[in-house]
Amino acid sequence: MIKIAVLVSGSGSNLQALIDANLSGEIAGVISNKPEAYALERAKNAGIATAVIEHKQYPNREAFDDVMHQQLLDWDVDLVILAGFMRILSAKFVQAWEGKMINIHPSLLPNYKGMHTHQRVLNTGDTLHGCTVHYVTAELDAGQALAQGVLKVTLHDNADTLANRVHVLEHLIYPQVAEWICSGKIQHTKQGVLYHNQPMLEPVQFCKL
Ligand code: GRF
Repeated sequence: MIKIAVLVSGSGSNLQALIDANLSGEIAGVISNKPEAYALERAKNAGIATAVIEHKQYPNREAFDDVMHQQLLDWDVDLVILAGFMRILSAKFVQAWEGKMINIHPSLLPNYKGMHTHQRVLNTGDTLHGCTVHYVTAELDAGQALAQGVLKVTLHDNADTLANRVHVLEHLIYPQVAEWICSGKIQHTKQGVLYHNQPMLEPVQFCKL
């Protein structure tokens, strides 16, 4: 059975969706860089091990990442799921977990990498928005996309309503992708990402238009 670690910094609603999905993999532990993150309560309520590793207590990014890396090894983790983890990871850490670490980003990548995606979508006047699950690589928000949730932006939307609507999609697609990895339906190989044993040429799309 695949062992999973979820890395969080905040509320952890995506963690909750992963817990509630009863994945065929086991969530072996949750790491937070913030001791006050509500996600830690969610993990404890579900009987999942937690570790608080405060980035502020380490002299630099690499030292912080080394401690996280060691914790992941101690839990014997096969898959790292970033779920609202608000730290940029060092190249060394990303390389160590390449092909074994996924993230969810609140935009239709490659559009709107980085922060404040909802407001940027509104400023541009896009009619479609959503979220993307992707493998993590050294370049921020640039690894291969595995799935996207797509919604239509309405005239009544503001950054808050968009954030809420995107969250609903996140809770749908993140557990689904995690399960596909746990069950071997998605595989990361040297030849590229396979979906149902075929090269994955584009992300699976979930629409809520
Ligand atoms: C999500 O919007 C996700 O896209 C981003 O961080 C947020 C985490 O929310 N990476 P939560 O902590 O899972 O509620």
